[in-house]
Amino acid sequence: MSGYRIAVVGATGLVGQTILEVLDEHRVPVQSLVALAREGGGRTVQFGGQPIAVEPLASMDWSRVDVAFFAAGNAVSEEYAPQAALAGVTVIDKSSRFRMDPNVPLVVPEVNGDAIGTSRIIASPNCSTIQLVVALAPLARRFGLERVIVSTYQAVSGTGRDAVDELERQTRQQAVGEVPEDPQVYPAVMAHNVLPYCDRFMDQDYTGEEWKLMRETSKIMGQPVRLSATAVRVPVYVGHAESVYVETRDAWSLDDVRAVLREGRSVRLVDDPAHGVVPTPRDAAGTDDVWVGRIRADVHEPNGLHLFIVADNLRRGAATNAIEIMQHLAPRWDLGGAR
Ligand SMILES: NC(=O)c1ccc[n+]([C@@H]2O[C@H](COP(=O)([O-])OP(=O)(O)OC[C@H]3O[C@@H](n4cnc5c(N)ncnc54)[C@H](OP(=O)(O)O)[C@@H]3O)[C@@H](O)[C@H]2O)c1
Repeated sequence: MSGYRIAVVGATGLVGQTILEVLDEHRVPVQSLVALAREGGGRTVQFGGQPIAVEPLASMDWSRVDVAFFAAGNAVSEEYAPQAALAGVTVIDKSSRFRMDPNVPLVVPEVNGDAIGTSRIIASPNCSTIQLVVALAPLARRFGLERVIVSTYQAVSGTGRDAVDELERQTRQQAVGEVPEDPQVYPAVMAHNVLPYCDRFMDQDYTGEEWKLMRETSKIMGQPVRLSATAVRVPVYVGHAESVYVETRDAWSLDDVRAVLREGRSVRLVDDPAHGVVPTPRDAAGTDDVWVGRIRADVHEPNGLHLFIVADNLRRGAATNAIEIMQHLAPRWDLGGAR
């Protein structure tokens, strides 16, 4: 046998399930896989066409694995990630618990893979941040960033499976003329609605999601980015969209901008307004790309640029980035050796 010995914490959730799908689709060599959740309860998850029994996290023996993806929320990461790391496991954490910890690298491999270092816990950024920095990084390297203003249009799957179930129920009720049930996940009915905030309100009336975008972007880019964000929830199942305004230090032509964006390894330019070709969540869902379009010069500001950036939040914004972190670290493990 050869390949990674992997645990997925939160294997029954949306991100955990997507990690299993992407590992399989990308033909990542997996020697063994442990699926963990709150309880086993006789449940299974599918991996490589086979059912894998779900096991309770609380009784996990960490010597069984080399790497663990944590996708079960902050409280679970806080309690179990240090235990796993102490046992010698490399933890790739999808929660926000350790992202701003100065001792924990926050990594999007194609932007700052060199930041990984030797830490046993590596944080994967917020889904909205990942797609943003993938497009911003090449522009920053070439033209310098002066100012960034982002408005997001975020899918409900970003909140997890309960939010998806709630929107499905509300949409069905609305379709047959019923009044949608009282919302449990969000503070408002999401069907046929737009909620101009995601997460809780925090300092200066920005929300947690907005602060994540602002702080995480600077940490990943390794420089203070003068970014302001408005995070909005929309009744889309999968695929976060972002309207982004960027002011650069240096001048550019739109041809320069397109050429530079193409340098982003995951960037897919989808920008032919004359033929109605634009990036949409529906098209981006199921892909690993960051779709960029609506590329325009600002009509007032000489170095002002507008972009529309879309990606699958469960894949590029979570599972795929986490798996790429693991692949970046491949030399840590002897993938050819049986253990
Ligand atoms: N959804 C996204 O687009 C996205 C993007 C980036 C980051 N994230 C982050 O990824 C994490 C998971 O998100 P999600 O959307 O996959 O959530 P989800 O669909 O609600 O799934 C939550 C998962 O965590 C497990 N879990 C919850 N409490 C647990 C506990 N005490 N012990 C063990 N397992 C526990 C659940 O297991 P049971 O089945 O046993 O309840 C389930 O497998 C969160 O930290 C989220 O912020 C999500």
